[in-house]
Amino acid sequence: MSKLSVIAGKSSEDIAKRLSKKMKANFVKSQVRVFEDGESKITLSGKISKGKSIVVQSIYPPVDTNLIQALSLISKAKETSSEVIAVIPYMGYARQDREFLPGEIITMKVLGKLFKGAGASKIIAVDIHSMMGFRHFTIKTENVSAIPELVRFVKKLSLKDPFVVSPDQGGKERAKEFARELGSEYITLEKKRDRKTGKVQIKTKNLDEVANRDLILVDDMISTGGSIVKATQFLKKQKCKKVYVACTHALLMNNAEEKIRKAGVTKIISTNTIPGKTSIVDISNIIVKAIS
Ligand code: R5P
Repeated sequence: MSKLSVIAGKSSEDIAKRLSKKMKANFVKSQVRVFEDGESKITLSGKISKGKSIVVQSIYPPVDTNLIQALSLISKAKETSSEVIAVIPYMGYARQDREFLPGEIITMKVLGKLFKGAGASKIIAVDIHSMMGFRHFTIKTENVSAIPELVRFVKKLSLKDPFVVSPDQGGKERAKEFARELGSEYITLEKKRDRKTGKVQIKTKNLDEVANRDLILVDDMISTGGSIVKATQFLKKQKCKKVYVACTHALLMNNAEEKIRKAGVTKIISTNTIPGKTSIVDISNIIVKAIS
């Protein structure tokens, strides 16, 4: 039996399978039954190694259900393995990393305690919303970037002289890295979000640079699609050509995809941290690199 087990949470079974193949590890599958009242019942099939276990479980909707399943798997793995690494490809709650309005609870602080309490010695996430979230954790953390993999895909589209755009200032470093890998220029828009209603507005005025160019809007995640829709509407007014969207985590809640397409986006490219129609880029290789 290998000294390494990969335990697949239901939300990341495909990534876990790829990891266990690439790392020649024991694959441990979980069968999950969610009862009418919302409780999860997890049954594992396969042997957990005494050495190291890697639990793989993204925390996308239903967020709290996927979170409790991740914690349960870590806790179970720790009963046998001396070391448990939690790979959380999409780290839900990462946007709750600071007190924006008085009285708000920093849920990332709570998650830090829960992962530690369950028995994880390290957390690996892919493009966490901001590193601020991990500052609340007292166990080891690592964030890996999916940008090289996304860029590799975008290069295959053979766009002529594309221009990278971040929908907000917070995404500046991401857009810079993307543009560097792609060998293009980048620009950041100024976005304002109403902290109470969640509505977004683009504050940037005119932008001559984007006229007649194909653009790649780069973001860490799409949730309601509000940021991408507003940015695309603005960029179309500036007479750009096609707009492509490259993001790591495509939650695409409700009719977000339709709204984005209606705004004029040609293609959404995302990774398999969240499985779905747009998740065409695999991130398992970058996780293997981080673990090895
Ligand atoms: C915000 O800072 C993030 O980077 C994303 O732009 C945002 O969370 C996307 O959310 P939505 O799709 O709801 O606008």
